[in-house]
Amino acid sequence: MKKTKVWLLTILLVVIAVINIITGHSDPLKAASSLEKDTLTMITSPDYPPYEFYDTKTGESQIVGFDIDIAKTLAEKLGFKLKIMESDFNGLIPALQANRADFVMAGMTPTPERQKNVDFSIIYYEAKDTIVAAKGSNLKQPQDLSGKKVGVQLGTIQEQNAKKIAQKVAGVQLKQLNKVPEVVQEIKSRRIDAAIVEDTVAKGFAQANPDLEFNVIPSEEASGSAIAFPKNSTLVAPFNKVLQQIKDDGTLNQLVNKWFSQNIIADSTSSTPAKTGLNLDFTRILPDIPFILRGIPLTLLFTLLSVTLGLIWGTILSLAKIIGIKPLTWVANAYTSIFRGTPLLLQLALVYYATPQLTGYDISALEAGVLTFTLNSGAYMSETIRGGIQAVDKGQSEAAMSMGVPYWLMMWDVIMPQALKNILPALVNETIELLKDSALVSTIGVVEILRSAQIVGANKYIYFEPLLFAGLIYYVLVMGLTFGASTLERRLRQSE
Ligand code: ARG
Repeated sequence: MKKTKVWLLTILLVVIAVINIITGHSDPLKAASSLEKDTLTMITSPDYPPYEFYDTKTGESQIVGFDIDIAKTLAEKLGFKLKIMESDFNGLIPALQANRADFVMAGMTPTPERQKNVDFSIIYYEAKDTIVAAKGSNLKQPQDLSGKKVGVQLGTIQEQNAKKIAQKVAGVQLKQLNKVPEVVQEIKSRRIDAAIVEDTVAKGFAQANPDLEFNVIPSEEASGSAIAFPKNSTLVAPFNKVLQQIKDDGTLNQLVNKWFSQNIIADSTSSTPAKTGLNLDFTRILPDIPFILRGIPLTLLFTLLSVTLGLIWGTILSLAKIIGIKPLTWVANAYTSIFRGTPLLLQLALVYYATPQLTGYDISALEAGVLTFTLNSGAYMSETIRGGIQAVDKGQSEAAMSMGVPYWLMMWDVIMPQALKNILPALVNETIELLKDSALVSTIGVVEILRSAQIVGANKYIYFEPLLFAGLIYYVLVMGLTFGASTLERRLRQSE
């Protein structure tokens, strides 16, 4: 019995320690609005080499590229530190409007519609649109696209331009995807015939994939890139000033040469299109394995936090259900039914995207994940714990009561330790579930195991190998957990 209590206390201490760590450390995904303004937060869509993309070679999750170098130069000249966040391209302007970032650099073109919602700097680079297609497909001009499936990135001017083409050329079918590498992959797997991509980006992809070619769309007006700011931002003027400076003194040109004159895409070994069958080649991801492994601590931290907080929350809820105060029971039951009755993914998106709007608190992706998972697993655990408590012999509580032991002390001292022992297998199940479901937070931009694997896949145009590797990591983690749990269970039994 003593040992069981020691275990309970240990768990409690771990939670407190972890909460301290979390609140003590600033979160890299937190926006500037909650910081003093010595740091500017930039948001970008790192699917756009050479403008912005993940460099996985260093084993760190680091966004690099032309835009990033410019942003760093500007921030430095203006005396700010720089913090970089990411989102899909179509989420960038909403992020500015929600004040989650101070500016966007993402090869973004100032269009009249965008100018209604955000302010732009002067243009720092000009590009042209191209048609990317399989070599030999002869899709070179807009009119060649008649009857073809054409891919574009959602929310870009390439999407607009493809729509314009579709008005003039018969039978053009559009397919909008969130990320440029996905569009390229769709051509490679022949699900679409062509894509509209900016020239400098198309060039990199074509170099990495010799089975692809690109042709500049003639007479298309150039699409310049500019920095976007929230409407009426005071940053526009100072940014324009230093931008003009680095244009004049040649710094910008150096960066153009650095990023646009060479092929910076990870490698081209995977360039031959997959033939029949699965030809797996894990050596291709060898250099990126450290990068994927770096997702493990985050996944574990996330699971540990959600499980302990969920256990506490679940205990409170279960007590509310059995204590016999009607309104409490009613609220706890309604709560459980809502959180068990709606998809976890939906809850996650709501918590992450709605919290800043509803409360003004700019919740980080990690916090949103832990909060959602705690709320959700608390609902499940409350039922397990309720069952566990009710299964403990009634006679015991009666005995304790008759000896004058107060209710809460009896709960803590007599009932809970036994209940905990009984429900341990169910709690282990819940932990395994949480560990695997942590992959869901990849959807709001936390670079955990799955997301790292996807980044590697996107950089190298390979899909199975990184995903299989991620699957293996999850499996090993779950096995470790199962082993740890059965040891714990054995200990608990011995302590009886
Ligand atoms: N220049 C185009 C636009 O403004 C495409 C930019 C896409 N950028 C990116 N990071 N994916 O719509």
